[in-house]
Amino acid sequence: MTKVISFISRKGGTGKTTNAINLATMLHSLGNKVLLVETDTNYTLNTLRKMELFKTGAKDAQLFPIHASDDEQIAQDIDGLRKQEYDYIILDTAGKTTDLNIKKICVSSNLVIIPTSLSQNDLLVTFQTVEDLKPARELNSTLTIAILPNRIHGSTKTKTITSILNELDATILDNFVPSKNLFTQSSTILPEKEYLAITKEILSLV
Ligand SMILES: Nc1ncnc2c1ncn2[C@@H]1O[C@H](COP(=O)(O)OP(=O)(O)OP(=O)(O)O)[C@@H](O)[C@H]1O
Ligand SMILES: [Mg+2]
Repeated sequence: MTKVISFISRKGGTGKTTNAINLATMLHSLGNKVLLVETDTNYTLNTLRKMELFKTGAKDAQLFPIHASDDEQIAQDIDGLRKQEYDYIILDTAGKTTDLNIKKICVSSNLVIIPTSLSQNDLLVTFQTVEDLKPARELNSTLTIAILPNRIHGSTKTKTITSILNELDATILDNFVPSKNLFTQSSTILPEKEYLAITKEILSLV
């Protein structure tokens, strides 16, 4: 059965797109049938894929597809796309997605991942995002909401991350994404091996 994993946050720039790309690319490289969906009307992911195809000469047919949707259409799209027998549909939402559409996406998802740094600003928004998603949990009892610590500095201890995020009423991932340049140059073709442990932990939640 298709598992829908959505990256959501009430704030821009928390790492939704970066992590959606890395997860989709890693899952595909592990042999899964993957669809990556973007709702950003700038079509960032489709543009990135086109640039990568041009640069590498890779064949489109061997890669996972990237579906372009928008905020209003996305929940309906997911219901249709579920019928196409993908193992995983990875959804990258935009920071400006409305409350109503966030709720609809949550109802259609198996797992919602909220990426967050440990900055005061990000933490406040993350707390609010978790609160806002609670009503969706009542409509979708199988929904898991997980927090993915992102852009974590090298010297930060796991204990520190857990103690900061433990207050949140959500699953806190043990693995975290360090702040590294290699994550700013995400590829829709080549998996980043540092993302394997995170991918495995995410899979254990769906
Ligand atoms: N782990 C990381 N290490 C280094 N840079 C990162 C990391 N995660 C994200 N970034 C950088 O932070 C910026 C914002 O990340 P990203 O575009 O993934 O956020 P977003 O949540 O999708 O934003 P938006 O809401 O605007 O779509 C990008 O320049 C990205 O390269
Ligand atoms: Mg984005």
